[in-house]
Order: sequence, then C-alpha cells, then structure tokens
Amino acid sequence: MVHFSVPKIPGSEITPKEAYVSRRTLLAAAGMALGAGFPAGGRAAQPERARSHFSTDEAPTSLGDITSYNNYYEFGTSKSDPKAHAGGLTTRPWTVKVDGLVNRPAEYQLEDFIKPYTLEDRIFRHRCVEAWSMVIPWVGIPLAEVLKRADPQGSAKFVAFKTLVRPSEMRGQAGLFQTLDWPYVEGLRLDEAMHPLATLAVGLYGETLPNQNGAPLRLVLPWKYGFKGIKAIVGIRLVEQQPPTSWNNQAPHEYGFYANVNPQVDHPRWSQATERVIGSGFFGRRKPTLMFNGYGDQVAGLYSGLDLRASF
Ligand code: MTE
Repeated sequence: MVHFSVPKIPGSEITPKEAYVSRRTLLAAAGMALGAGFPAGGRAAQPERARSHFSTDEAPTSLGDITSYNNYYEFGTSKSDPKAHAGGLTTRPWTVKVDGLVNRPAEYQLEDFIKPYTLEDRIFRHRCVEAWSMVIPWVGIPLAEVLKRADPQGSAKFVAFKTLVRPSEMRGQAGLFQTLDWPYVEGLRLDEAMHPLATLAVGLYGETLPNQNGAPLRLVLPWKYGFKGIKAIVGIRLVEQQPPTSWNNQAPHEYGFYANVNPQVDHPRWSQATERVIGSGFFGRRKPTLMFNGYGDQVAGLYSGLDLRASF
C-alpha cells in the first residue's frame, strides 16, 4: 500500500500546489516503475519529473479520498471494495503485450515497457459517469509514445485495451454473480489514443500507483468519463474495427463508445449537468460539469463533424 510522505521542506520554499512533491517522493517515483535493484546512491542520478503543462491548477483531491472511493469491479461493486480487496493483487512480474496492426509487436516486462520514457506529473480532472469528480495528480507517460514505438500500420484505426484475468486474486471474477464479462476491455480511436492528453499512469501523488487505482498500469483520459480509464492493463492491440468495450457491452443505451464528458447529454437515469465534488464535506458540493471535462480547447477538434448526441 502506498504511503504519502509529507514534504520535509519548509513551507516558505515551496508553493502550496507543489507542497506534496518533495524531492524525496520525486526521486522515489523516478525509480518506482523501474522496480527493485536501484543501486545505492543511484537514485540521485534519476531525472526529476516534469510537470505536464496540461496539468490543472485546481487543488488535488486528498490521497485518502482518491484511494478509498473507487470503481474496480474485479474486486467488487461497492466503492470501498477495491481498497479492501485489491491489496492482494500481485503486480510484479507484470507483462504487457503490444500487438495487432503494428510493425513492432512486443511483449514487455513492465520495467522495460516504462524505461524508454520520461515520467511526468499530470494533474487532471477526473469525472465519473456517476456524476462525481476528483482532481488526481497522476504520474505517467503519454500513450502516444508507446504507440509510436510500436509503429502502427496504415490499416490500424483503433486501439483495444485489456485488463488482467486472475480470479484467484480478483474476487469479483470468481464469484457466482458476475457483473461484467471478463476481461474488462476498453477502446479508443487511434487519433484519440495519439492525443497528448491520453496517459498511461504508473503513479499517484509521486508514489507507486496503489492497486485500487489500477496498478501497475492504467489508462487516464481526462476528457472522458472515468470508465474509459481501464485498470491493470495487460494488452494493447491496434485493430481496424471499433473494438467492444465493457460498459457498452453491458448497457449500450447507457454507456457509449466515446464517453466524452458532456453536460448536455444526460445519462438515461440521471443528469450529467452537475457533479458532486468528492472530498468537499458531508453534504458534498456540486459544481457544473464542463464540456469535455474542461479540456475542450485541446480535444474538441477530434470530434468535429460527429453528432455527440448520437455518438455519446
Ligand atoms: N478498469 C477495470 N479493469 N475494471 C473496472 O471495474 N472501472 C472503471 C475504470 N476502470 C473499472 C476500470 C470506472 S467505472 C471508473 S469510474 C474508473 O476506473 C475509476 O477509477 P478510480 O477508481 O481510479 O477513480
């Protein structure tokens, strides 16, 4: 389980929004995806992470809220199940396969998968389809870098993602009453996947990603509803046809393939006009939901010409 270390630097030396990023946590995070085996003193040689210029200036939700109010049906359907039950998932060794319509298909150990890239702090708004929101300080890499390295073929039009299946450690996959078909799957159009906001996260608050948030590798798409952010990824496949996605399979009239945050298109059972801010007290402050979750300047161009009511 992750432990958030409070910075030891005097408050006068740091700005409030950076207050959680101590040099110690930065260096720990630089080494985190590389696993054990850091030579003594070797950490100092690790570059400090850059902060993505896409990051929001809004205050991040507390680590406690981010790690105790989760959706992760492999561990149960209630918000507290992932924290209670995901801790036992073995995340090393971890294999990630990148294949399909690419010139360089490969199967990587997680450490080798991450090694070529520079980790960034990416502080993004996070909007769940259930009309609640958080601000999450991820540590991750642009998905585009991974796709470029695989060298997509001309016929590749979509990217399909797949979560681990391991009923022995994922109690939600072993039970009698199955909620979703396993593996959990998600998909993006290739141009969405290549957008610089599309992130593969390996960390949170400068530390290794907690299991309940999708360790060791999960997708983060800040302009889409949270269910697109598939956790515990083991497969990334470039394909020609639009791939199936778990929630769309489960309830196609409620959850679309695009899942762009859109206050004008209500869920059939509730409004999407506002959102409950997690961590804002007992009654929960609500605020208006923004088109594309506030990332319209960056991503709206991906959808010009698309009827967002039909393609929700
Ligand atoms: N990924 C897998 N493998 N299984 C899941 O049940 N739930 C999704 C998404 N990724 C889910 C998943 C949903 S519905 C949401 S809202 C986000 O994860 C929640 O991410 P968080 O718990 O880090 O906030």
